[in-house]
Order: sequence, then structure tokens, then C-alpha cells
Amino acid sequence: TFILGIEGTAWNLSAAIVTETEIIAEVTETYKPEVGGIHPREAAQHHAKYAASVIKRLLAEAKEKGVEPSDLDGIAFSQGPGLGPCLRTIATAARMLSLSLDIPLIGVNHCIAHIEIGIWRTPARDPVVLYVSGANSQVISFMEGRYRVFGETLDIGLGNALDKFARRAGLPHPGGPKIEACAKDAKRYIPLPYVIKGMDLSFSGLSTASSEALKKASLEDVCYSYQETAFAMVVEVAERALAHTGKNEVLLAGGVGANTRLREMLNEMCEARGAKFYVPEKRFMGDNGTMIAYTGLLMYKSGNTLTLEDSRVNPNFRTDDVNVTWIKEEEM
Ligand code: ATP
Ligand code: FE2
Repeated sequence: TFILGIEGTAWNLSAAIVTETEIIAEVTETYKPEVGGIHPREAAQHHAKYAASVIKRLLAEAKEKGVEPSDLDGIAFSQGPGLGPCLRTIATAARMLSLSLDIPLIGVNHCIAHIEIGIWRTPARDPVVLYVSGANSQVISFMEGRYRVFGETLDIGLGNALDKFARRAGLPHPGGPKIEACAKDAKRYIPLPYVIKGMDLSFSGLSTASSEALKKASLEDVCYSYQETAFAMVVEVAERALAHTGKNEVLLAGGVGANTRLREMLNEMCEARGAKFYVPEKRFMGDNGTMIAYTGLLMYKSGNTLTLEDSRVNPNFRTDDVNVTWIKEEEM
């Protein structure tokens, strides 16, 4: 089976072709705003400008490996969640490909794609997933036909919270890696608001308090304390999901997963509980076309395709909205 997948929920336009066992090719064009964060309309214009050339390059690379457009079985695209203008742009590209090649469309949930690529590229089979990216922060696990959300942020994603604090502290975008570097030179821990409500998280109060703390403490100490507090919160929710589900694997997903300190804290928690901890290769943690193509392949093979009429994008598409047709409970 050959599936072409297109990702473009935010700043990254990326397309790939995969089979059950192989990545045939992947081509990516990243939108880099000149100042500040993402402007949805500009990002969408970027995707519109590069969509044709990205697909053309992808098909050329596939051809070199002996894969022709006529070999393709389906076209997958990220249907949501994400920025509306960006989603609509790549959905249009996907519909055109589907019509011209006369093969089915597959609408992929972006968050689930982050999970499935992790399961494909690591030995994890049935993990509790900590998905922490710019816009999203969720603790997820498969149960009774769906990826259930055990806990999630009630306000902003952890990555965006880090970036926001960094911007106020005068650090360049994206702030996550800069905060990580600064934290290494810290001398002491400053108490900051640790906010968990039930199983859910909140980061906006932490970001505000951290900006305030800069008036009295060094940047290094605040960066360190911010990380320790925020990561302890997500690790606690992941640990409680492990206890609740009785599972014994944790998979890390999303761009914030690049953070070494977060990995260290998760690893310690897993060791203490006798659980295995898995992190995919870095190229599969941020947004990439391969994860959409691969999840599309799983969906296609379980008959989960879309009609043109149902192919509308959904900027608020939830992880637990998806009927997971490709996992059979008895095989787990
Ligand atoms: P999504 O659409 O899934 O929300 P995204 O488009 O926001 O994802 P990702 O690549 O998943 O993008 O994540 C980007 C985020 O990861 C940014 O907020 C960035 O600051 C953060 N990040 C990257 N590296 C690190 C790091 N080393 N430590 C902490 N945060 C990091
Ligand atoms: Fe993402």
C-alpha cells in the first residue's frame, strides 16, 4: 500500500509517501515569520505558494525509487486541529490530488498522527502518551476504540506558554530551546504556581508569575524554575494516567519533547514505576508529513476514508472524536 500524506496545520508544510514498512520520500517547506509568532493567513499563503512544488519534488523523489503516482492508493491530509486558513489550503491540495488520481481522501487527526508515528518508530505498543507541542498538551491513551484524553491543558499549550514567557524575557523565538539552555546556569529554585485541576493542567498563571519573578530573580533561575514546575505538572498527570490505566509504557510526542530535562524527569518516573519510556527520533517529534501519511495508511487499510462532501476541515478536531478503526482491542 502506498499513501501520500500532507501536513500543514501550522508553520510546517510537509508531504510524504509511505508504505507499511518504509518511508519512500518526504519533502518539507517551513514557514518562518520575520518577527514574532505565526500569522495564520501568512502561513496559509506560504503553504499555498509552496504546495505545488513540494508535491512535485515529492513525486520526483518517489519516482527515483520506482514509485509512480499511479501506484498511490490514497491521499491523506491533516484535517485538524490547527489554524483554519492553513488547514483549508492543504485540504484543497489534497482534494485536487485525490480527484486527479481518482483515489480516496483520508482525513487525519493531527494529534493522533503524533501518536501513531511514535508507535511505528519505537517499540511502544500500547502506551500512555504525553503529547506536548506548541498548541497542544494532552495525556492520551487508547481505550475501548478511542484515544482517550486523560488530562489536558485548560488554557494554552506548554510550547506556546514557554514561547510567550521567553518573548517577555527578551529571548528569541522559539523560546523553548533558549529556556532550556538558560536553565542550565541556574543557582536556585524559585517557587512558582503549580496548577493541576483534577487531571487537567493550566500554564497561563505560571507564565505570568514567571514574567513577574524576573523583577527579583535572575533569568537563569526563573527559566530553571519554570521548567521544573511545568514539567513536574505534566509528569504527574502522565504518572496518574499510568496508574489509572495499568499500562506500562510511556511515549513522548510533540516539539517540547526535544527537551532533555523533560525526558530525564519522565524517565525517572518510569523507572520508579517499572514502566518503559520511549522517545521517537527527533525528526518524527515535530510536525512532519510522514506521520500524516502513515496514519492515513492505517486508516485506509481499515476502510476509514472520506467522501468529498465530508472532507471539510475541523480547526477544533479532538483526539477523542476519532473512531479508531485500525486497532482491534483483542490484538492488544
Ligand atoms: P502542534 O501543531 O502539534 O501544536 P507545533 O506546530 O506548535 O505543534 P511542534 O514542532 O510540535 O510545533 O512544537 C514547537 C514547540 O516546541 C515550540 O513551542 C518550541 O518552543 C518547543 N520546543 C522546541 N524545542 C524545545 C526544547 N528543547 N525545550 C522546550 N520546548 C521546546
Ligand atoms: Fe504537531
